[in-house]
Amino acid sequence: PETGCLSIIVLGASGDLAKKKTFPALFNLYRQGFLQSNEVHIFGYARTKISDDELGNRIRGYLGKDASPGHSEDVSKFLQLIKYVSGSYDTEEGFKLLDKEISEHELAKNSAEGSSRRLFYFALPPSVYPIVCKMIKKCCMNKSDFGGWTRIVVEKPFGKDLESSEQLSAQIGELFEEPQIYRIDHYLGKELVQNMLVLRFANRFFLPLWNRDNIDNVQIVFREDFGTEGRGGYFDEYGIIRDIIQNHLLQVLCLVAMEKPISLKPEHIRDEKVKVLQSVLPIKDEEVVLGQYEGYRDDPTVPDHSNTPTFATVVLRIHNERWEGVPFILKAGKALNSRKAEIRVQFKDVPGDIFKCKKQGRNEFVIRLQPSEAIYMKLTVKQPGLEMSTAQSELDLSYGQRYQGVTIPEAYERLILDTIRGDQQHFVRRDELKAAWEIFTPLLHRIDNGEMKPIPYEPGSRGPAEADQLLAKAGYVQTHGYIWIPPTL
Ligand code: BG6
Repeated sequence: PETGCLSIIVLGASGDLAKKKTFPALFNLYRQGFLQSNEVHIFGYARTKISDDELGNRIRGYLGKDASPGHSEDVSKFLQLIKYVSGSYDTEEGFKLLDKEISEHELAKNSAEGSSRRLFYFALPPSVYPIVCKMIKKCCMNKSDFGGWTRIVVEKPFGKDLESSEQLSAQIGELFEEPQIYRIDHYLGKELVQNMLVLRFANRFFLPLWNRDNIDNVQIVFREDFGTEGRGGYFDEYGIIRDIIQNHLLQVLCLVAMEKPISLKPEHIRDEKVKVLQSVLPIKDEEVVLGQYEGYRDDPTVPDHSNTPTFATVVLRIHNERWEGVPFILKAGKALNSRKAEIRVQFKDVPGDIFKCKKQGRNEFVIRLQPSEAIYMKLTVKQPGLEMSTAQSELDLSYGQRYQGVTIPEAYERLILDTIRGDQQHFVRRDELKAAWEIFTPLLHRIDNGEMKPIPYEPGSRGPAEADQLLAKAGYVQTHGYIWIPPTL
C-alpha cells in the first residue's frame, strides 16, 4: 500500500453533504484506523469565514451519538485533524492559500522523501465543478518528486441530460485524466449491491437460470416514506428520474444484467456495464408511469405549477441474447407508504405444473438492499402435515440474524476508502455515464416540455394505481396472501 502524507480536502465543508455524509464517513474510517494521524490531515474549504472550532462544532453532532467507550475522545482527536481554510471557488487567492496549508502539512509530516497524496472531495454544487477543477489544476496539484497523486471525487448531478453532462465531462476531462476522477454513486457502496457480482458469478445455482428462459421479469425498487423535506428547490429541478433512477437504480440494473467480466479488474467490470447500458432500447411512453404526491407543490421552494415527478415506474428492455423479452422495471418514489430498496427477480411459471402451484405464486429471488439487509428466495414447499398440499415459503438469509455483531459499513465510508486506495471499480466511468444519459434523455425532455404529466397520488400510499397496472402488463404476478416477515432478534 502507498504510504506518505495524505491530505483530504473537503470542498464545500460547511454544506449539507459534507456535514451529513463526508465528515461522518471520514470519522468512521479514522476510528477504524484507516486514517492514521501521523500521515493524514483533513482540510475543510468553503466560502464562509469561520474558525476551525466553529467548523468542528457544526459537524460534531453528526459524528454519531455513540456512548461507547472512547467515542468522545475519538471525536476530539478527529476534529483536531481538521484545518479550515476559507476562500472563494473562482479565484486563485483562496486555492493558493489552501495549497500553502497543504504543503506545510506535508513538510511537517513527511520525511524528506515522502510522497504527496491529495484527495479533493467535491461536496459542492456541480455548477462550480469546472472552475474548481481549474483552480486545483492551477494551484493545488501534488508536487512531491517522490510520488503520490491528486484525485478528485465528484457526485451527481452530473448535468441534466446527455448534452449538459457531456459538456461537464469534457470540461473536467480537459484538466484531469480518467484515473484521477472518482464519480460517486453511493448505491455502489452498499453491502448488498457489492454482493451482486459474487452472488451471480460465484454460485452454480444461478448460472444456468439467469436468463430469459427462466426469468420472467426483474424489478428494482426504491421507496421512501418521506417527501422532499427542505430539498424541494434542488429536487424540483431534477425530479425522481434524475435523482434516483438514472443513477442509483440503473447502476443496480447493470450489476443484475451484465455479462460476466473477464476478471475483477475495475476496467473489465466497467466494460461490461457499458455494454449492457448500450443494449437498452429506447423507452416507450406507454411503459412509463409518472406521479407527483399531493402537497409536493406546497413546499415554498417548489413552483406552483411544477410538473416534476416525485414517482416513476419505467420499463427498460435490454436487447441482447440473455435478456430479450424480459422487462426490467425500475420504480422509485418519494412520500410512499414505506422505505425500502430491493431487487426482485421473478421466475417463470413451472411448466407442466402438477401441483397447481400457480395460485401459490412464482419463485422469486429477492435482494433487500435496505433497511434490514436480506437475501431470500420464495419457493413452493409441501405444507408440513398430513395433507399433500403446497405452500409458499422462503430460504432466508437475513444479515441481522446471520451476521450478528458485524457492522455493515456505510456506503460513503467504503467508497472514500476506495478513492484513497485507488480502486475505481465502484465508481462510474465517463462512457458509462454517457450511456446512462442516452437512455433517459429523450424521456426527460418530454417531461421537461410538459408533454408527459405526473399523476397525483396521496402521500403515504403505494403511488398511482396506474403503476401497478403497468407492472401487471409487463408480466409481474403479485403473490397474494404471502408476506415475508423478517426474523426479529
Ligand atoms: C440521494 C438522493 O442520492 O439518495 C436522495 O438525492 C435520496 O433524494 C437518497 O433520499 C437515498 O439514499 P439512501 O442511501 O438513503 O437510500
